[in-house]
Amino acid sequence: MPAPRTAVVQIRSHGSGPPGNVFPVLWGEISSALLQRGWLIDSEPGGRLRAARERSPGEEVGHVERWDPPHEVRLVWKADATGAGPAPRLTVQCRAEGAGTLVRVEHSGGASQRGAPREEQELGWLASEVVVPLLLAIAPGRLVEWADDRGGRRPSGPASRALYQEPVYHRPGFQAILEGLGLRPDDVLLEVGCGGGALLKRALATGCTAAAVDHSADMLAVASQQNARALADGRLQLRYGDAAALPFPGERFTCAVMSGVLPWLPDPVGAFREVFRTLRPGGRFVAWTSTPRTYGTPAAGPKRRGGARLYDDRALVRFARAAGFSEIRTDHPDLRPVARTVGVPRHHRFLFGPEYGVLLWARRGRAAGRPDLPRGAALPRRVRSRAGRTLGSARTG
Ligand SMILES: C[S@@+](CC[C@H](N)C(=O)[O-])C[C@H]1O[C@@H](n2cnc3c(N)ncnc32)[C@H](O)[C@@H]1O
Repeated sequence: MPAPRTAVVQIRSHGSGPPGNVFPVLWGEISSALLQRGWLIDSEPGGRLRAARERSPGEEVGHVERWDPPHEVRLVWKADATGAGPAPRLTVQCRAEGAGTLVRVEHSGGASQRGAPREEQELGWLASEVVVPLLLAIAPGRLVEWADDRGGRRPSGPASRALYQEPVYHRPGFQAILEGLGLRPDDVLLEVGCGGGALLKRALATGCTAAAVDHSADMLAVASQQNARALADGRLQLRYGDAAALPFPGERFTCAVMSGVLPWLPDPVGAFREVFRTLRPGGRFVAWTSTPRTYGTPAAGPKRRGGARLYDDRALVRFARAAGFSEIRTDHPDLRPVARTVGVPRHHRFLFGPEYGVLLWARRGRAAGRPDLPRGAALPRRVRSRAGRTLGSARTG
């Protein structure tokens, strides 16, 4: 093996435990990120690196030269036709260091090929392709921003795909939404920001039909796996798109829902307008979100620029009114008993108390014969709200 040319990154990962814990996560992320960029890698000795989306799909462009999990993996690109020197290689090592792991990523070979770029070009490549991206990646706040995107704003990657199949912490909200909406087989539901489709699955069990939009390709993939039968039966349509420009015609839906989406929207009123446009007259809308009390808790972390945006009741009502809705009100159900039933760990159940979560209910105009929006007192006992009591639910319209 030639001597390393670039020691690209060395990370001490003390919080994640020994290499046996770190390697599977790291490798899962590497293969997932490769796939996102159009490359497939077989995770085994001699495994092939193939182009997934290029002109010649399946063509082998490299392979796994060394496969020794959880300690080391080495990937080698196939030298191109002009190659005279050693083929470019990347080695990923995980070494135990105290109770943690030292991850080292190293590059070798690939530069002394015939017809290789001149030295200054190579330095230019190093600057623009390696050094500057690394510099920007380590800028203050970038990791937190990345984690927000990864986990909430546009979830992706193996951990988010697994989490959103059945997001335990969202299940109390799902229950409150569904019990309040009282879906019927003649309902046509819109979900904005459907994530992994766990709420859709429950909604579709009522016999209604549905359509949903999300701007995360990973989430849409999970949502389609989770709801394969409904998709095949034509009872569900999943679309890639943005809440600000819903890919649906006007007046299509009888009801609409957003669960955990509001904190990530740059323009909540714009999104609400789109929901309003696509609802039929009399259509009902519910959004479930966390209150500002949640800042500083494990559910939202500290309030910071670019992070999750949490709104008080007044703001939510203002958004709904500006979008054209009427019969607007907020509810603060006590979902702690539901949290316990669905398996939220004891020390996090307080986050489902009335101060921490809010349901915004609204309707597009009025229409005879449409179901009433739930009132606090009419909600089933399990999700009974404190609306109209201590938190002084906001009612308007
Ligand atoms: C925290 S997740 C909630 C997922 C799901 N609703 C649930 O409760 O489990 C937020 C979801 O909203 C989606 N989302 C955020 N902003 C969006 C936008 N502007 N347009 C479409 N989807 C968006 C994200 O991709 C993500 O799937």
